[in-house]
Amino acid sequence: MLFQLIFLVLATTNMVKAEEQKIIVVGGGLAGLSASLEIINGGGRVVLIEGEANTGGNSAKASSGINGAGTATQSNLGLTDSPSNLVSDTLSAGDNENNKNLVEILAANSADAVEFLRNVGVDLTDVNLCGGHSVARTHWIPSPKEGRPIPAGFEIMKRLRTKLDKIKAEDAELFELLTSTKMTKIIKEDGKVIGIEVENNEGRQIIHGNVVLATGGFSSDRSKDGLLIEFGGEKLEFPSTNGQFARGDGVKLARSIGAKLIGMNRIQIHPTAFVDPKDPKASTKFLAAEALRGKGALLINGNGERFGNELGRRDYLTGKILEESQEIGEHFQNGSGGQKSAIMLMNEKNVEAFGRPAFNFYAIVKKFFVKYENSDELADALKVDRKTVKETLENYVQIFNGKKEDPFGKRVFPVASILPNEPIYAAIVTPAIHYTMGGLEIDGNAQVISAQNEKPIEGLYAAGEVSGGVHGSNRLAGNSLLECVVFGRIAGQNALKYNQKSVREEL
Ligand SMILES: Cc1cc2nc3c(=O)[nH]c(=O)nc-3n(C[C@H](O)[C@H](O)[C@H](O)COP(=O)(O)OP(=O)(O)OC[C@H]3O[C@@H](n4cnc5c(N)ncnc54)[C@H](O)[C@@H]3O)c2cc1C
Ligand SMILES: *[C@@H]1O[C@H](CO)[C@@H](O)[C@H](O)[C@H]1NC(C)=O
Repeated sequence: MLFQLIFLVLATTNMVKAEEQKIIVVGGGLAGLSASLEIINGGGRVVLIEGEANTGGNSAKASSGINGAGTATQSNLGLTDSPSNLVSDTLSAGDNENNKNLVEILAANSADAVEFLRNVGVDLTDVNLCGGHSVARTHWIPSPKEGRPIPAGFEIMKRLRTKLDKIKAEDAELFELLTSTKMTKIIKEDGKVIGIEVENNEGRQIIHGNVVLATGGFSSDRSKDGLLIEFGGEKLEFPSTNGQFARGDGVKLARSIGAKLIGMNRIQIHPTAFVDPKDPKASTKFLAAEALRGKGALLINGNGERFGNELGRRDYLTGKILEESQEIGEHFQNGSGGQKSAIMLMNEKNVEAFGRPAFNFYAIVKKFFVKYENSDELADALKVDRKTVKETLENYVQIFNGKKEDPFGKRVFPVASILPNEPIYAAIVTPAIHYTMGGLEIDGNAQVISAQNEKPIEGLYAAGEVSGGVHGSNRLAGNSLLECVVFGRIAGQNALKYNQKSVREEL
């Protein structure tokens, strides 16, 4: 007994020292929370650092959903899909500039990623068809017939946080959360990352441990020495759909300790962000979810004509708006604030399919959409010939019914075409900086690669938008949330293995 006690005391003093280190996860978006939960599920402990007052990040804004290929939801809905389909859609969207190894890992783990979220209570039992996909596979929450809609990203982030809070309530040692606390430095010694420096209103502090970076992208990094100017100067003219916290801190701090960057000039402009009639020039805009076009929304220019395939790739459609649309004057819904813009049109059937409660948020709460009784009324408001708008709609009816080829190559025709004599909802939409494909180069274990020797930097992992390589030149809708879960979990698993290995070595 005494012998056992002495042994225990000796062993624990040694072990406490070695085990003391929690794994540091920086960023409380989907990548960070997925990594955290995976670490805890695997028997590790986490300290999560979040710069804002609350977790959520851009992940909480996501509205179209998360991709999964070959999921239970798809088969329940009678849809056939496979990881290899997702691989080919992803590579084709990314012009094969993608890191193929990462794409294969992404697709192979996609069904499991959707399950991971369903296991924390997210009801991902509906899918929608987004631009660039060969099949409906972007999982979201079925729209309730009435009452408030449940946006996918917000619900995912709420459920994950609830789960982590529950874990914390049961054992506070497992999950520590520091909010309003910013990472200001990554500390590397003898080639290994050994911790970070953080700053909050109590001052600066060093936290030791290996590090999972999940700080998101740099779509809002407009500062003079910022990444947008460095890598995408010409894109500064666009507004952004991202929160102000998307400053690229993880990218910049990791670069300063020798991390390799990849694809930094690949900055995705989303073709459709709403122009707010109350503030048409605002630099932060609400996204007009891809799912609106997925449910049949049409796009016309200020002349009342269609100008492109509404379900084409994001970069294609953005290009079309910039080439074939113009700015919209104040006479129509207070105008586009000087930006080249398009007008999004929907009818009642499109609205119904999208989900009326979610639509009402855009139409009634935000007043982005205005209702017109028919195409003539819309044409008058636009100050264009009534015949033009009528012909645009009649033409599309024929295309929709398979009587004509679409001149823009549209092949999938969701829900319903808009008839000239029925009520039409119209909103001004404009391209906005949405997502940064580039970031820290990682390998299949989510380890950050060194610029100097192309080898993993020991003790440093990255997942989510802070990393680069998965999406190539252009990201496919729904692949970002997926990347957060898949590589967040992989980063968590490997950070945990590395932690356990270091503990064993110390013992
Ligand atoms: C409006 C909108 C809609 C979208 N819709 C979809 C969609 O439907 N499907 C899809 O797949 N993708 C979508 N995306 C893209 C996707 O949401 C994001 O790319 C993804 O959520 C990024 O997740 P993340 O965990 O990497 O980063 P984030 O969720 O942005 O989280 C990063 C967190 O890190 C914190 N942070 C940053 N710097 C520091 C620091 N120095 N110290 C501490 N904390 C820091 C931030 O405050 C933030 O909370 C959408 C994006 C937007 C903006
Ligand atoms: C129209 O936009 C201007 C700014 O461009 C704004 O001051 C004004 O309030 C807006 N009008 C309405 C009706 O929202």
